[in-house]
Amino acid sequence: MERIARVRETSGARALLALKCFATWSVFDFMREYMDGTTSSSLNEVRLGHERFGKETHAYSVAYADYEIDEVVSHADKIIFNSISQLERYADNAAGIVRGLRLNPQVSSSSFDLADPARPFSRLGEWDLSKVEAVMDRISGFMIHNNCENSDFSLFDRMLGQIEERFAPLLRNAEWVSLGGGIHFTGDDYPIDQFAERLKRFAGEYGVQVYLEPGEASITKSTTLEVTVLDTLFNGKNLAIVDSSIEAHMLDLLIYRESAKVAPNRGPHRYMICGKSCLAGDIFGEFDFEHELKVGDRISFQDAAGYTMVKKNWFNGVRMPSIAIRELDGSIRTVREFDYADYEQSLS
Ligand SMILES: Cc1ncc(COP(=O)(O)O)c(C=O)c1O
Repeated sequence: MERIARVRETSGARALLALKCFATWSVFDFMREYMDGTTSSSLNEVRLGHERFGKETHAYSVAYADYEIDEVVSHADKIIFNSISQLERYADNAAGIVRGLRLNPQVSSSSFDLADPARPFSRLGEWDLSKVEAVMDRISGFMIHNNCENSDFSLFDRMLGQIEERFAPLLRNAEWVSLGGGIHFTGDDYPIDQFAERLKRFAGEYGVQVYLEPGEASITKSTTLEVTVLDTLFNGKNLAIVDSSIEAHMLDLLIYRESAKVAPNRGPHRYMICGKSCLAGDIFGEFDFEHELKVGDRISFQDAAGYTMVKKNWFNGVRMPSIAIRELDGSIRTVREFDYADYEQSLS
């Protein structure tokens, strides 16, 4: 949070929490002191941002429906349409708030097709300059999200240069530009001052208020998933089964074929840590431990905040982990426990 605040101060950019990544509102009182507000992907998120976080509230969605647009507008300071046709359909509904459009620069830092906003035939934003120029009377700014887990400042810098080359005439007519999320500027080795300077230069060149929409960068290393070993077995490898499931509780790791993180991940005893759902590939990863694992041992998966609690599901009816907050004085406060009624109510 302090790194975000420093970038805001030195660059003049505003930072909005991307609720799609992290929407645990019981810590919003704390985050609010360091950030300018929230951005959203749906009516539910924009309402949560408005009611639980406050400050500035941006609305964005890949597509709004007729039955929700007025309520979306009632919760937002700014609305960013994904397409010119959505802008034209709802420009009048949103006439009372600031309106913008998503641009797609057709270049991104993603190496994963699934998460690449610049993938061929991408539906995420407009890219035709002349078409966008024709609707400039109805918008005052743009959102561009083309970074993805990008911890390389020079790549960010290069891609921003490409955006400037391509969209300069639009940027010169804009009052604000959101550069989206996906920039790992809170990472330990990130050249944060160079980054802030680049944002400031961009803002000065086009006379725009810059926004950032950090999701992951807001909560990196803030959270752990604490699990307990339920069983161990040897099937050619040492296996340990824990009281959680990657599919239910850390789904993104499964989707992107990544391993969970355990620290220090050192020692002579290697185990494959497996979830308790029926999915054969319900595996958190292979890790090294100082001691042999036994039933009842606790394992702590690190850096577990992003795209976890917003995606948790009841697959196999696996028990949902409680949510607890460690206060700055070290004390732990449980803010949510889940029981059978929550499982039953998630169904019908
Ligand atoms: C428009 C937009 N803004 C912000 C984000 C947050 O990205 P991250 O969590 O990688 O910072 C995303 C992620 O998909 C996004 O699509």
